Amino acid sequence: HIEESIRPYIDLIDNLRSVGIHKDLALPTIAVIGDQSSGKSSVLEALSGVALPRGSGIVTRCPLELRLKKAKGAVNWKAVLSYRDKKKEFVDTSLVENYIEEAQNELAGKGVGICDELITLEVMSPDVCDLTLIDLPGIARVPVKGQPENIEKQIKHLIMKFIEKQETLNLVVVPCNIDIATTEALKMAQEVDPDGKRTVAILTKPDLIDRGTETTILEIAQNKTIPLRKGYIMVKCRGQQQINEKMSLEEAAQKREISSKSTTFQVTSEKIINLCFLKCICLLNEDKATIKSLAIKLTHHLVDHIKTIKEFNEQINSISLGELIIKENLFVQLREEFKKWNNHLNDSKIS
Ligand code: GDP
Ligand code: NA
Ligand code: MG
Repeated sequence: HIEESIRPYIDLIDNLRSVGIHKDLALPTIAVIGDQSSGKSSVLEALSGVALPRGSGIVTRCPLELRLKKAKGAVNWKAVLSYRDKKKEFVDTSLVENYIEEAQNELAGKGVGICDELITLEVMSPDVCDLTLIDLPGIARVPVKGQPENIEKQIKHLIMKFIEKQETLNLVVVPCNIDIATTEALKMAQEVDPDGKRTVAILTKPDLIDRGTETTILEIAQNKTIPLRKGYIMVKCRGQQQINEKMSLEEAAQKREISSKSTTFQVTSEKIINLCFLKCICLLNEDKATIKSLAIKLTHHLVDHIKTIKEFNEQINSISLGELIIKENLFVQLREEFKKWNNHLNDSKIS
């Protein structure tokens, strides 16, 4: 089964993180990049079921590591937010936004500045997939009042630090209603990964495709225009109106499923959206283009990617574990994970 075949990798990564190994070793992560307001936080929100701060200006001002952990059994939603030496545990989903904003104000100052210190939000819930993602500030070309002249350079520099790592799978978020060929984030991803081995593009806002550009978008989604080795995945998230109307995430998820199933024969944007969804379905090899299949697809890309990193395995073997591990049971657990991981490296690739 899919989930069982990838679980050892994800557990391994999480175990390595939990003992602080990431300080000495860059661990595989999925980084989300794109222009401001391209829909990065919306995609993360849909994947995690966690309502993140979002809006039209610069909202994400520090890198946010979102660790999703599927909680087995009857555990309800639970989260831990940490940064610097601070740690906050909570069970109320509505606190996320405030807590993140507080943390950002502390790290980057109040206002519109950015900062490269990491905020970590761990979410345990029966409803999430095991994934770790990093949300990064969006690329802004024109500084707003209170921002330094070189804000674009600063943001790109911060993004670069994450996406240049060979261990990072780069998720480039591109809205359908802009000129995709000129997307800065896609260029940056191609720069650090010319072969496209670790770049996945997500096309957002398919409901906002401009009239007359339908064919263009379809060709992009079919990987014909700017071919990427791992192709494109299209998702529709909550629009601003749906947020204002307080449409629940579940309701939005249902809407997504409905729109991927329905067919229309009118020559409108809607038809292209459905065609794109069909294409996604083929890509995903699933019967629905849902956020869950996106999560599974991403996890597969991540696992494939881990398998290709030879040095990663070597680095793990050369690290002095004794220095890092305080509790003996963690050490035992880790060794088991290493074994499983090595066994999996020898297994055939997940198709
Ligand atoms: P970020 O700056 O890249 O994190 O972008 P956000 O996730 O904050 O989204 C920016 C705006 O686009 C918000 O108003 C979202 O509601 C809206 N948005 C995101 N995805 C979609 C979509 O699929 N369709 C529509 N219509 N709006 C979307
Ligand atoms: Na935004
Ligand atoms: Mg954002």
